[in-house]
Amino acid sequence: MAQVVLKNVKKSFGAVEVIKGVDLTIESGEFCVFVGPSGCGKSTLLRMISGLEEQTSGTIEIDGKDVSNAEPSKRGIAMVFQSYALYPHLTVRDNIGFGLSLARTPKPEIKRRVEETAEILQLGPLLDRKPKELSGGQRQRVAIGRSIVRNPKVFLFDEPLSNLDAALRSQMRIELTDLHANLGTTMIYVTHDQVEAMTMADKIVVLNGGVIEQVGSPMDLYERPATPFVAGFIGSPKMNLYEGKVAEAMGCATYGIRPEHVVISDAEGQWTGRVRHVERLGADTIVHLEVPDLGPLVARVEGSRTFEPGQQVKATPMAEREFRH
Ligand SMILES: Nc1ncnc2c1ncn2[C@@H]1O[C@H](COP(=O)(O)OP(=O)(O)O)[C@@H](O)[C@H]1O
Ligand SMILES: [Mg+2]
Repeated sequence: MAQVVLKNVKKSFGAVEVIKGVDLTIESGEFCVFVGPSGCGKSTLLRMISGLEEQTSGTIEIDGKDVSNAEPSKRGIAMVFQSYALYPHLTVRDNIGFGLSLARTPKPEIKRRVEETAEILQLGPLLDRKPKELSGGQRQRVAIGRSIVRNPKVFLFDEPLSNLDAALRSQMRIELTDLHANLGTTMIYVTHDQVEAMTMADKIVVLNGGVIEQVGSPMDLYERPATPFVAGFIGSPKMNLYEGKVAEAMGCATYGIRPEHVVISDAEGQWTGRVRHVERLGADTIVHLEVPDLGPLVARVEGSRTFEPGQQVKATPMAEREFRH
C-alpha cells in the first residue's frame, strides 16, 4: 500500500504543453480513476507516474519517496495496458511467472506466487493453457496476473477493458472492484468511460485539456459538479446544458438539468415541449423533446411509457436539482 503525490507536474512535447500543472494526492489503498475525453492527457499522466515518461517539471512521490527521476523498475509499480501482449508460445503459468523468472526468482517461489495469483484471479484450472485457448476476459485476467505476482505497491491501469465487448466489460468491472477489495492495493485506473469511473472509483479525477477539472467521489461529481464540463461529462444520458439567452433568463452563464430530474406531465408544467423521439428501454423511457423556450430537452421517465411523436407534453425541472454556473 502506498500514497501517490503529484506536485505541480507538467509535461510538454516540443512546444506543446499537454499536462499543465497537476497537484494531486492519491491515498494509500485508494481506487483512483482518471477520466476525461480522448487526448486530455490521462495516459501521459499515468506514464509519468510509472516512469515510462519523464515529466518536464514537478515532482512525483510514491510511498513517501521522491521517485521523480527513478527508473520504472525502482518505483514499486505494475502497469496493465489496453493491449495485453501475452507471449503466445508460453502457458498461462509461464506468462504470469515471466517477470519473476527474469528476476532470477527461485523456481519453488515462482510456483507458489503464480499459484496464489491464479487463485485470486480464478485462473487455477487454466494454468497449462496457451493464450489462444482463452477467452478475451481470461486473457485480460492473465495480464493482470502478471502484475499481481510482482506484488507492487501501486497498480496502474490504462484503459484495460476497452477491447472487450459490453457484457464482458461490465463483468470485468465487478472483478476488478473485488480484486481491489481483496488486495487493498492503491490502484490508478485510466478510462474515457464515465460509467467505469462512476462504478469503480473511490476517487475520480476529471481531466480536460491537461488540467484537473474536479476531484471527488462519484456521488460528489454527480450531485455537485464544479464546472459545466464535469456536469456534462458525468451522467448518462448527459445533463441538458444551456448557455446564452436561455441561461441568462435563468440568472446564470450555464444552466443545466439532468434527464432524470425533468418531470413530464400531460396537465401542467414549466415548459411546453413537443415529442421528437422516444427510446423505450424497458426499465425507463428516454423522451427527446423540442421546447420553444429552451431548445432540445431530454427527459428520463421511469418505466415503459408510451409517447407519440409530435405529442405536446409539459416538462418541469426539479428545482433543488438544477445546475447553475
Ligand atoms: N510522444 C508524444 N509526442 C507528442 N505528443 C504526444 C505524445 N504522447 C501524447 N501526445 C499528445 O499529448 C496529448 C495527451 O495524450 P494522451 O495522454 O495520450 O491522452 P489520453 O490518454 O487522455 O487520450 C495528446 O494531444 C497527444 O497527441
Ligand atoms: Mg490514453
